[in-house]
Amino acid sequence: MSVIRSVILGCGSYLPARILSNDELAKTVDTTDEWIVQRTGIHERHIAAEGELTSDLATHAAKAALAHAHVEADSIDLIILATATPDQTFPASAVTVQNNLGISTGVAFDLQAVCSGFVYALAVADSMLRTGPHKRALVIGAETFSRILDWSDRTTCVLFGDGAGAVVLEAQEQPGTNTDRGLLTTHLRSDGKHRAKLYVDGGPSSTQTVGHLRMEGREVFKHAVAMITDVIEDAFAATGTSAADIDWFVPHQANKRIIDGSAHKLGISPEKVVMTVDRHGNTSAASIPLALADAVADRRIKRGNLILLEAMGGGFTWGSALLRW
Ligand code: ACO
Repeated sequence: MSVIRSVILGCGSYLPARILSNDELAKTVDTTDEWIVQRTGIHERHIAAEGELTSDLATHAAKAALAHAHVEADSIDLIILATATPDQTFPASAVTVQNNLGISTGVAFDLQAVCSGFVYALAVADSMLRTGPHKRALVIGAETFSRILDWSDRTTCVLFGDGAGAVVLEAQEQPGTNTDRGLLTTHLRSDGKHRAKLYVDGGPSSTQTVGHLRMEGREVFKHAVAMITDVIEDAFAATGTSAADIDWFVPHQANKRIIDGSAHKLGISPEKVVMTVDRHGNTSAASIPLALADAVADRRIKRGNLILLEAMGGGFTWGSALLRW
């Protein structure tokens, strides 16, 4: 029986021009390139220019995705922007992106699930495309985490970077089997009892300030691999697939050790893992679409490939998605 699937027509990304290396960071905070590389795999990250906003990064990535998909902006009737670093408290940065793209119809809104934001946004877009009136969506992850970092806190400021990635999704009729193109399954979870382990110490309702990122890194690390692998097992169970069927594993890029640990536990070989954390750092909701765009641009990811996505972040929130390119 045929079904409606959300098929990815194209993807794109954008990184701010300025690159901040570990050695450069070590001049302003008590750290070393060796410590950062050994604990995280990060060598450098990109930092948005003064006045360069999350919506600017998102707009660049969206334009690249539209060009890659060969579709016009005005054919988009749904924009979901996953971000924890919006331009303003409101309106949603998604409506700024909508306006930047010259679109004045359809729906645009932000979604906040921190590092899991892109997987959450994919799942929401997928259900709206499959069940609602929407036909073509832009799902974007964009962040300017450099603006919420405490640059004197070496335990957090070395980990994050700025960037954006986007995909164009289209509702298409497919045969209804595991060989269909598009999103085959998505699985989302959250558990708010962990919310104090990774948070921002400000906000409109609490301090009337933006605040800075705070994290119990060891605690996050302790839970990460188990949560990630658990929600991936859900995706395998829902589709009758296994690690052996995966062509590319595109995980949230928080830390090389978490990625390696998750892949190892699942039995996914290192050659199938897309890794960009070395060049981008942790770009939160932008990290998965940035990594996807990287592997599509250099032709590792090809039509028909089975792609596994996962993310875990503040909340805690976590989730997985399985799709055929
Ligand atoms: N440079 C040098 N030394 C440092 C630095 C730094 N940048 N940061 C911390 N240290 C020191 C600590 O002060 C500590 O010193 P001490 O032993 O004298 O007290 C020592 O290094 C070890 O600190 P730990 O926190 O135990 O180091 P750990 O091996 O756990 O690595 C890290 C820290 C990298 C943050 C790790 O815990 C981690 O990756 N956690 C996951 C966090 C994460 O990825 N968060 C991203 C958001 S959530 C997500 O996206 C999944």
